[in-house]
Amino acid sequence: MDGRTPRLSLIFVLLAVVGFILLISNITSLEDFNDQLTSTFYKIQSSIHLAFEPPDNVLLAEVNYTYCAQFVQKPTAEEAIEERHLLNSTAWPDPPVKDLPVEFSSNPAKSYYVIQGEPEQHIGGQLVVNVHVHNFLGLPKRHGGDFLTARLHSPKLGAGVVGKVHDHNDGNYTVLFPLLWAGEVQVEITMVHPSEAVVVLKRLRKEQTHTVSFKSQFRSGGLSESTECDMCLPHNQKPLCNYTDLETGEPWYCYKPKKLGCDTRINHYKEGYRKTLLNKNEAEFFKRGVNIKVPIPAAKMDRVTVLPAENDQTKVESTNNAAGYYFQDTWRSLSGSAIQHFTSSSAITSCLKGKLVYMHGDSTIRQWFEYLAKFVPNLKPFNLYSPIMVGPFMLVDDTNNILVKFRCHGTPLRSTPVYTSELRYVANEIDRIEGGPNTVYIISVWAHFSTYPIEAYIRRLRQIRKAVVRLLNREPDTLVVIRTPNMQKLNPADSLFYSNWFCLQIDTVLRGMFKGLNVKFLDAWEMVLAHYLPHDLHPPQPIIKNMIDVILSYICPAGKT
Ligand SMILES: *[C@@H]1O[C@H](CO)[C@@H](O)[C@H](O)[C@H]1NC(C)=O
Ligand SMILES: *[C@@H]1O[C@H](CO)[C@@H](O)[C@H](O)[C@H]1NC(C)=O
Ligand SMILES: *[C@@H]1O[C@H](CO)[C@@H](O)[C@H](O)[C@H]1NC(C)=O
Ligand SMILES: *[C@@H]1O[C@H](CO)[C@@H](O)[C@H](O)[C@H]1NC(C)=O
Ligand SMILES: *[C@@H]1O[C@H](CO)[C@@H](O)[C@H](O)[C@H]1NC(C)=O
Repeated sequence: MDGRTPRLSLIFVLLAVVGFILLISNITSLEDFNDQLTSTFYKIQSSIHLAFEPPDNVLLAEVNYTYCAQFVQKPTAEEAIEERHLLNSTAWPDPPVKDLPVEFSSNPAKSYYVIQGEPEQHIGGQLVVNVHVHNFLGLPKRHGGDFLTARLHSPKLGAGVVGKVHDHNDGNYTVLFPLLWAGEVQVEITMVHPSEAVVVLKRLRKEQTHTVSFKSQFRSGGLSESTECDMCLPHNQKPLCNYTDLETGEPWYCYKPKKLGCDTRINHYKEGYRKTLLNKNEAEFFKRGVNIKVPIPAAKMDRVTVLPAENDQTKVESTNNAAGYYFQDTWRSLSGSAIQHFTSSSAITSCLKGKLVYMHGDSTIRQWFEYLAKFVPNLKPFNLYSPIMVGPFMLVDDTNNILVKFRCHGTPLRSTPVYTSELRYVANEIDRIEGGPNTVYIISVWAHFSTYPIEAYIRRLRQIRKAVVRLLNREPDTLVVIRTPNMQKLNPADSLFYSNWFCLQIDTVLRGMFKGLNVKFLDAWEMVLAHYLPHDLHPPQPIIKNMIDVILSYICPAGKT
């Protein structure tokens, strides 16, 4: 053992030196390269600082935050097993060596993909694409863990489908696309993060560095104070107020105000984002245009021609289980019932006639509420005098007996001030409705959990699932729809808070948690990834319209009236 360590490090030093010489020898104008590197670095530094300059009154001190196991009830043996399985399903390989210089990290520009098979293929077949990831020195990577996404599309046909990426864990990846329409189809492979960046994201999430700062205001008589709040807080420093929900056991704490009592808390809000400190080497893995969401080029051809199916073979091979695809800019489902198109407000009204629709969650579900409010004039907003953004909101059509309600989910919530009286956990609200064939409960809980350890998300979902099971036990005909996360735009600063990699992990857990239950998914992940419009936390209107069509098709399946 003793002899090996120095020899190993000697090898690494040598490797680094050789690598650097290779790099230098392969760059005709090193100075240009250097300039570019430095200026990009400073640009990123300043953009991080600009966007996330923390408010003056936030402590920047390194605090001894540990994950809040001590603040929650222990999971039962059964829950612990389930948690292990869910965690296993999100397992992501680490590079064998950490903290290597950036030259050795994955570089999308030096990587390439190769389309397998003939330049002409047939509907019903499967397009196979091999991806070879290389580092900045142009040398092949020998391990996996890069976060890649894939899309096959035909811009002229308004068609697109997501590909499944298989990591061989040796620097090579295989992507499988179903061939679903005739015409020329183009392959698009994107490196969202190199594996070296995923390591950093894992660290940030695990250390739970409280990148988002939450507060509550306390008020009584003429006195008003505000203190910091979170799912867990360092409790050895100041006295805490315990707002743990008695029904779900969901933890929430605030520091006790100096003068006021814990029962004087009136609201909750996001105060701001804190500076997340990456060391200089880590920052290299989060560079705009270099290694955040950068396309991987084709080695040779980047498209094939798809011909009509051979021998009436129209069934797509089962190895690829895409949820659906776009054709002429409209979403078609590959799993289950056909999607109908609700092109007029009267079609929407007649589908929703007699329904109670509850939308409960984050702002990505509020978009649907807003869509209905905008396009269905019969649905009149009922003024509840709620603050904009957080609600609650309500639309009423008393002629057709339609009620649509939106409310935001409970903490953690990165929101403008919301009264504590309006902070409701999804599980508790589900327990307070009757349910039945005229009830639709739509849930979207994901975007506010990206900075927390995945265990916190598992715990939240478990409580929601229990409530959904209780609801379906008492009223099996209740329709429950669950919205999955989606890709969003990333820049160096955002990727530390909202990285699509966090969303992917949340997506995996969400699907695992509700698997086998009689609930419907709205696959926002694929609906955003397959579309040509840029990714956004709040997908643009054409995608929202398609999502509404999917939901209405769940509510009013074809063939039923
Ligand atoms: C962090 O807290 C733990 C438990 O309270 C304590 O043992 C440890 O010394 C603390 N570490 C620092 C750096 O304060
Ligand atoms: C974890 O996942 C791997 C592959 O997905 C599987 O082979 C293994 O049995 C799983 N382990 C547990 C404890 O579920
Ligand atoms: C050097 O650059 C050329 C052209 O960009 C590339 O083909 C080659 O693989 C590179 N070699 C190394 C060792 O980086
Ligand atoms: C990855 O693919 C390249 C190109 O086809 C091949 O040369 C290499 O052997 C593959 N790597 C592994 C570890 O299989
Ligand atoms: C907060 O209250 C909950 C529910 O009463 C309790 O289980 C938990 O232990 C309390 N937390 C602390 C730190 O005392």
